Amino acid sequence: MTKPFHLFFSLIIIIILPTIIHSQSQSAPNDAAVMQALKTNLTPKSLDWSDPNPCNWKQIQCSRDNRVTWIQLRNQNLQGTLPRTLNTLTELQVLELQNNQLTGPLPSLSGLTQLQILLLSYNNFTSIPSGFFTGMSSLKHVYLDYVTFSSWVLPETLKSASSLQVFSATSANITGTIPDFFGGDYFSKLTTLHLGFNSLEGGLPNSFFGSSIQSLRLNGQNSRSKLNGTLDVLESMIQLTEVWLHGNMFTGTLPDFSALNDLQTFSVRDNSLIGPVPESLTELRSLKVVNLTNNMFQGPKPSFGKSVEVDISGRNSFCLPDPGVGCDDRVNKLLAVVESVGYPQVFAENWKGNDPCEPWLGIKCSASGNITVVNLQGMGLTGCISPDFAAIKSLQRLLLADNNLSGMIPDELKDLPILIELDVSYNQLYGRVPEFKQSVKVRTDGNVDIEKDGPSTTPVSPAGGQKGGDRGGGGKTGVVVGLVVGGLVVVAGVCVLYTRKRKRASGVHPRHSTSDGDGVKITVAGSSTTGGPSDIHVVEAGNMVISIQVLRDVTNNFSQDNILGKGGFGTVYKGELHDGTKIAVKRMESGVMSEKGLDEFKSEIAVLTKVKT
Ligand SMILES: *[C@@H]1O[C@H](CO)[C@@H](O)[C@H](O)[C@H]1NC(C)=O
Ligand SMILES: *[C@@H]1O[C@H](CO)[C@@H](O)[C@H](O)[C@H]1NC(C)=O
Ligand SMILES: *[C@@H]1O[C@H](CO)[C@@H](O)[C@H](O)[C@H]1NC(C)=O
Ligand SMILES: *[C@@H]1O[C@H](CO)[C@@H](O)[C@H](O)[C@H]1NC(C)=O
Ligand SMILES: *[C@@H]1O[C@H](CO)[C@@H](O)[C@H](O)[C@H]1NC(C)=O
Ligand SMILES: *[C@@H]1O[C@H](CO)[C@@H](O)[C@H](O)[C@H]1NC(C)=O
Repeated sequence: MTKPFHLFFSLIIIIILPTIIHSQSQSAPNDAAVMQALKTNLTPKSLDWSDPNPCNWKQIQCSRDNRVTWIQLRNQNLQGTLPRTLNTLTELQVLELQNNQLTGPLPSLSGLTQLQILLLSYNNFTSIPSGFFTGMSSLKHVYLDYVTFSSWVLPETLKSASSLQVFSATSANITGTIPDFFGGDYFSKLTTLHLGFNSLEGGLPNSFFGSSIQSLRLNGQNSRSKLNGTLDVLESMIQLTEVWLHGNMFTGTLPDFSALNDLQTFSVRDNSLIGPVPESLTELRSLKVVNLTNNMFQGPKPSFGKSVEVDISGRNSFCLPDPGVGCDDRVNKLLAVVESVGYPQVFAENWKGNDPCEPWLGIKCSASGNITVVNLQGMGLTGCISPDFAAIKSLQRLLLADNNLSGMIPDELKDLPILIELDVSYNQLYGRVPEFKQSVKVRTDGNVDIEKDGPSTTPVSPAGGQKGGDRGGGGKTGVVVGLVVGGLVVVAGVCVLYTRKRKRASGVHPRHSTSDGDGVKITVAGSSTTGGPSDIHVVEAGNMVISIQVLRDVTNNFSQDNILGKGGFGTVYKGELHDGTKIAVKRMESGVMSEKGLDEFKSEIAVLTKVKT
């Protein structure tokens, strides 16, 4: 009979044990005091909080050692303020107070190292202290939506919440910029970032590069300048499923979506986006909802799959109203030539419809409807002269004076059959002028470096002659090189194509080596901002000077097969130098590259370096 007895006994234990703990336990004295203060402040009428032991209160849970772990008071119509001592409930894991009418300042919760869930949405708190998030290293879910705070900025202390998965603060009166720590560096598990309807300004932070964010809502900022800048960084955020950026002032072209295979919702209506809608978006299989209404997109109206809910009404500059119908050949050619200057807004605003001979701004045509004059003088164009001008065979006058065009004059232009005038004076062009026919009047004055042959100051050794022996780690060394193509920059993106024709040999010249950690060399793109034509040919990568020609060679002319990945500002290619050094080349083709942009790019390279190691 011993067996059944044992069985019975152990059953009893299992059932009784929790009861014993509950009825005999008293919450830890300090926790009890805090809970009493909470009770006094909130006077919850609908809940039975009469027991002297808060661990027995409704909606409260304690640990076995009587510490308060859960407070779940949502939808209780509670009024009043939270006690300042709340952050002494150091075992608290869950704090749910959403949808009440709590007022007064939110006390600091700094030090609640166990808190995982913080739900405070829909309340009337008046302020949030800047040290609020200090030390909350377990925090996973934060909801502060529709809290009537006075304005606040997202504090640096939020960085300590390294377990963060969801941060949602829609309409919470947040001002300032999106801090540059919302990304993999600090929040490797972040999947949801909802900051719509605040007063944020500035651009998408560089830290978004490669982040794990899936749902990104930054729509409808109320600040005067709203969120601005380009969407380039999105192309590296390959986990994205939902993107709400509508109602801001984003500019530039849409990025490359080919790596965003999970993207379902893409809403960028009511911005100032330009250029054609890329096929990488229209061809995305995962796409379900897309809203492009009220931008300045150009080119053919995009055609999405049947199952995609599309809104592209309102202001846009598509050539034709019907989706998927190609533009007039002349329109395509003109859009091609403004690509290399980043599709300036002036053309998005003035080149409408499908007939450039209407005429469009800067365009003149013959009676037969052929483009004869392209006059883009003094339009503040930055970038390079597109070789695609050569496709406009009817062109007689190409006038590009008084801009900020850099790079070389494309050789292709000399093939224009009936060209009579080319005026590129007062730009920042350099290099050899193609040999135009006698009949062509060519003006190149006001370009300081015209007819000068590339970099004069930078030491460059002959092709393949990288004196690699003095480089630490030799062939095993990994180098991350950022090829800055643009401002400098854009320029090189296209203009660099023409450096190939240059006779001067190019190569790699390591100056001295620095090794970071385990033999991985870290270099930062350093096509310097000091200007000068040398930038276009040569990338100074930390301690190396590498000619773009070499980068071109080792990446197999930036071939598809060499693509390692796509980043916020361009595509990363792998390559191997002659001495076996493996390099990653990041080719940036964003529009105008400001100094700040260059800094961001550099820090991105730094991030990239970390990732690769
Ligand atoms: C809380 O805010 C809501 C909406 O702003 C308002 O209707 C309500 O009266 C406020 N309650 C208190 C107690 O201030
Ligand atoms: C945001 O905060 C400012 C003051 O900090 C206040 O004047 C304004 O009313 C708040 N806005 C909202 C929508 O609550
Ligand atoms: C974005 O807006 C800020 C002001 O909030 C301004 O200083 C900055 O120049 C703008 N950037 C761009 C790229 O327009
Ligand atoms: C797209 O944007 C327009 C204009 O802002 C809006 O009226 C429409 O409801 C949106 N469509 C979708 C499918 O979200
Ligand atoms: C000019 O237009 C006519 C027809 O409109 C076309 O046949 C001819 O090839 C064009 N000329 C050039 C130089 O493009
Ligand atoms: C051309 O670019 C330089 C810097 O690259 C800038 O200082 C200058 O203001 C620009 N000029 C025009 C006309 O945009």
